[in-house]
Amino acid sequence: MRAAIILAAGQGTRMKSALPKVLHPILNRPMVEWVVDAARAAGASPIIVVVGYGAGQVREHFADQADVHFAVQEQQLGTGDAVRAGLEVLPESIDSVFVLCGDVPLIPIDELDALANEQNGHALSVLSFRAAPPHGYGRMLRQGEQLLGIVEAKDASAKQLEVDECNSGTYCFDAQFLRQHIRGLTTDNAQGEFYLTDLVAAAQGDARGVLAADSARLAGANDRVDLSGLTKRAQALVNEALMRQGVTFEDPGNTWVDAGVEVGQDTFLATGVRLAGATRVGANCQLAQGVVVHDSIIDDGAQVHAYSVLESARVASGCSVGPFARLRPGAELGKGARVGNYVEVKNASFGEGAKANHLAYIGDAQVGAGSNIGAGTITCNYDGANKHRTDIGDGSFVGSNSTLVAPVTIEDNAYVGAGSVVTRTVPEGALGVGRAKQRNIEGWVARAAPKKDK
Ligand code: UD1
Ligand code: CA
Repeated sequence: MRAAIILAAGQGTRMKSALPKVLHPILNRPMVEWVVDAARAAGASPIIVVVGYGAGQVREHFADQADVHFAVQEQQLGTGDAVRAGLEVLPESIDSVFVLCGDVPLIPIDELDALANEQNGHALSVLSFRAAPPHGYGRMLRQGEQLLGIVEAKDASAKQLEVDECNSGTYCFDAQFLRQHIRGLTTDNAQGEFYLTDLVAAAQGDARGVLAADSARLAGANDRVDLSGLTKRAQALVNEALMRQGVTFEDPGNTWVDAGVEVGQDTFLATGVRLAGATRVGANCQLAQGVVVHDSIIDDGAQVHAYSVLESARVASGCSVGPFARLRPGAELGKGARVGNYVEVKNASFGEGAKANHLAYIGDAQVGAGSNIGAGTITCNYDGANKHRTDIGDGSFVGSNSTLVAPVTIEDNAYVGAGSVVTRTVPEGALGVGRAKQRNIEGWVARAAPKKDK
């Protein structure tokens, strides 16, 4: 059985933030969650997150992930001390352990597999990468192929600082070796910390180094400049994977898709599209420039025109949305429905082929199949205390600039005259008109219209 200990107790002072470093997000997912996901994908169980600074916030984040356990490191005395805390909750049955840094989020799963294979039969294996410049990283000290130790940058000699092979902070340990030697660490170094890296020398030649292929994925985030570099890298990874699955990106460097978002084949994503959270976009969709989608489902063949914003919405196949449409939580568009320019929809369903093409607010409502909502229609869903529903049947027509005062029903195949204020049911097949009747005053202009001063 192989477990994982993820080090996440540090404050990360260089972030200059009230938020613990490992909760800083990359593509809307905290760094430490990327690491937890990688450990899980590499088959680690249990996953132990060592928390300290902001422990409550980190725990809360994983509240619904049952395989994530916690160890508390009261004082941040170094990475060696953090692992010691993790070992206190490690089950006896575990025989090897990944140790991962909560601030190295893009760790590739295949490198974890390689690390585990390399450790087999040895005290530990360490994942390294080449960095130019290697600045603050620990340096791998080798004699030929043999790994002798790791020296932290702050403890390194000028000659050691020339080494460009860096410690990624990712390891696989024989659990027995780890339990035995963790107590032997000292704070006899430049930072006065317990360095986990000293265990490489303690292994006396039985430590294995694995040099990673893609160095950019092993960078740690110590400040917000690092964080933005990793965010760009994550963006490229996610977008490249989707392109290989048949999604077209007009400008992948300016399109932001969260990890885990699904996009179907032959869908086109224009510049500036953002797909976030639990979003799923079908095949053959067109998402135009600046479309922002959170936690929504868009079915095959839908068109979302420029600068539309969708949140917790559902768009069926063949719909047309926008430009400048706003679908708020609970908006559900049936097949082929159209919601156009400057239309806001909240907690409302549109039946198959229903339309609201211009300037409307449809909230807490149901619009039947094939119905047409004229420009400027407003559902008055709020009376100052409670929300009420508007029900519009199938095949109905609501004239422009109508005010539908909820609760109110417009039955099937009914009409509402333009400019009406509707407060009562409009029965099936009827025309509801609720406005002042027009009257014309003959000759009024010549007789009484204001004249310009000479
Ligand atoms: C560490 C390594 C360094 C490596 C680098 C890779 C050591 C001594 N150094 O340095 O060789 O190149 O990672 O990114 O291990 N943490 C705790 N408790 C502590 C201290 C740290 O949980 O007491 C956690 C931090 O929250 C962080 C991780 O361990 O997530 C790494 O700590 P950090 O202080 O960033 O170590 P580095 O100086 O980057
Ligand atoms: Ca670090």
